[in-house]
Amino acid sequence: MGRYKDAWRRSIEEPAGFWGEAAGAISWDREPTVVLDDSSAPFFRWFPDGQLNTCFNAVDRHVADGRGEQAALIYDSPVTGTTATYSFAELQDQVARAAGALRALGVERGDRVIIYMPMVPEAVVAMLACARIGAVHSVVFGGFAPHELALRIEDAKPKVVVSASCGIEAGRVILYKPLVDAAIEESAHKPQHCVVLQRPQAEAGLVTGRDVDWAAATSAATPVDCEPVHATDPLYILYTSGTTGRPKGVVRDNGGHAVALRWSMDQIYDTHPGEVFWAASDVGWVVGHSYIVYAPLLAGCTTVLYEGKPVGTPDAGAFWRVISQHRVKTLFTAPTGFRAIKRDDPKGALLAGYDMSNFRYLFLAGERLDPETYTWASQLLGVPVVDHWWQTETGWPIAANLMGMEPMPPKPGSATVPVPGYDVRILDVDGKEVPAGTEGAIMIRTPLPPGTLTTLWGRDDAFVASYMSEVPGYYLTGDGGHFDEDGYLFVMGRVDDVINVAGHRLSTGEMEEIIAGHPDVAECAVIGVFDDLKGQVPRGFAVLKAGVDRDPEIIAAELVERVRSQIGAVASLRRVDVVAALPKTRSGKILRKTMRAIADGVDEPIPSTIDDASVLEKLQPILRGS
Ligand code: COA
Ligand code: AMP
Repeated sequence: MGRYKDAWRRSIEEPAGFWGEAAGAISWDREPTVVLDDSSAPFFRWFPDGQLNTCFNAVDRHVADGRGEQAALIYDSPVTGTTATYSFAELQDQVARAAGALRALGVERGDRVIIYMPMVPEAVVAMLACARIGAVHSVVFGGFAPHELALRIEDAKPKVVVSASCGIEAGRVILYKPLVDAAIEESAHKPQHCVVLQRPQAEAGLVTGRDVDWAAATSAATPVDCEPVHATDPLYILYTSGTTGRPKGVVRDNGGHAVALRWSMDQIYDTHPGEVFWAASDVGWVVGHSYIVYAPLLAGCTTVLYEGKPVGTPDAGAFWRVISQHRVKTLFTAPTGFRAIKRDDPKGALLAGYDMSNFRYLFLAGERLDPETYTWASQLLGVPVVDHWWQTETGWPIAANLMGMEPMPPKPGSATVPVPGYDVRILDVDGKEVPAGTEGAIMIRTPLPPGTLTTLWGRDDAFVASYMSEVPGYYLTGDGGHFDEDGYLFVMGRVDDVINVAGHRLSTGEMEEIIAGHPDVAECAVIGVFDDLKGQVPRGFAVLKAGVDRDPEIIAAELVERVRSQIGAVASLRRVDVVAALPKTRSGKILRKTMRAIADGVDEPIPSTIDDASVLEKLQPILRGS
């Protein structure tokens, strides 16, 4: 571990030297003279006096360097039967026009633009166009319902929303425009304009004076150049689930982000200019931001934008087809995608006949990689399968096997070692470090490295309260786990109300708020239970108000529908049980952890603080029932 250990130690002991060197890979309009400003901790600022443009580094720079004809983006869409390739020069032209169109609609540096789009190239173009003019994008995952979109519109207060007429999911066309209209209706903040990409599968009606057609606006636009911004200016806001119904607006800066992502492509992903990188995720998630859009483009790689699923579009051989057709070197996706492939094609028969000769690495993240899926994928593909751990907040991996720096022997179940820049510690409930082999809260000593969240949008106090207050000097990850004797990190799962469903991050607290809002419900609990495909799925339990005599099954169905319509289908809440009572401690705290353990069939002592053990006894068969 020599090379890695030296790099990690230097990154912690001498962060200015370490990241100052990494900054050399970025093209600056004004070179930073200061690497880290820690004068307002825990608000750390990287490269505070530097100026750059992220879009320039991701696009224009490669054209200037002679890569103009190289493929920048390959759009592969089995759901529409389309593939299209955009060179860096073509991408530059489209982004410059889209930036011009946004400018013409009054979008200026610092203004917010919400992007609510399916996996189409225009989503990437819109993101880069914002970066080009210093506007702050906030991409909202297309699977979220209008209420979730409305929450984000209200918080980010965008001048413009960019959307599309429809998305395509499992053979059905989902009309986006009515969802956008409903969200704007619900939100107190009203954006001035909506730019709508009309897709051939469905034409959306436009509101005169407010709505603008994407094709008309971009073709009429005057292309605009990249505007230098401060390294510390926000590049984007990405909302993620916290423990309540209010999503957290993670803020990413320009300078630290560009430096960290560029560095990660060499050192972690071992993928270099001209090679093909494919993150099979969605631009609405952090993986999509970092590894569909920014990192591969910053590194001069070709990125693949895939509008399809691992299975069903058309079958479990889809990933092998894309890898072979586009000569993918590195695939990054969530374990759930591989579990879906394994379920449909357990022997991997559909791999036969595909040319996988360019394929070198499979990176997995977003949820715990179960050893069975790890072994299956490793044996089938014969390439390193790299489990790595990260969060929306960090934007790039906290722990990984650094394939470009020093590959290490993998240990199934472990995300390997802390990445340089991350001083990961395991602490007990008193904030004391625990020895190897002992489970605890995973915390990271501050400063966090460049590229990690700088604050929550408009809520510095919530940033400090959520992440920086549990133990002063440490960032609270919300995950639990341990180190082994060799310094390998094992991330075992969230210790808060966040769950990961098919690689999608959701809040059980938010689902509880929605269920509790039903007029017949007195109280409720939502827990994440084990699911062999999606990793976890939520299950709800509701106690009705005294005197409610409606059919409990009808109420349960209404509760399922309520969550689906307010959060979206991705919530995957399929079952709510109406029960007589919920198990609690004597001080009235619902025993969610105990309920989860029983549902998962895990041995866990029943807390001595339980108020009425008979409540739990009665609930046990319901919890165990599948
Ligand atoms: N727009 C609208 N609806 C969406 C959507 C989108 N972008 N994405 C998902 N949904 C819907 C699905 O159609 C489904 O609806 P349904 O309940 O009516 O069937 C629901 O949300 C749940 O979707 P999902 O959790 O994705 O389950 P699935 O059964 O459709 O597919 C997998 C299962 C494993 C194939 C799929 O989850 C997958 O490909 N996962 C990879 C995850 C990933 O890329 N994560 C990003 C982090 S790396
Ligand atoms: P998100 O913010 O959506 O990226 O989700 C972050 C959460 O996903 C983390 O806090 C973890 O709980 C989980 N996660 C991500 N990657 C891994 C991994 N490799 N192993 C275990 N859990 C993971």
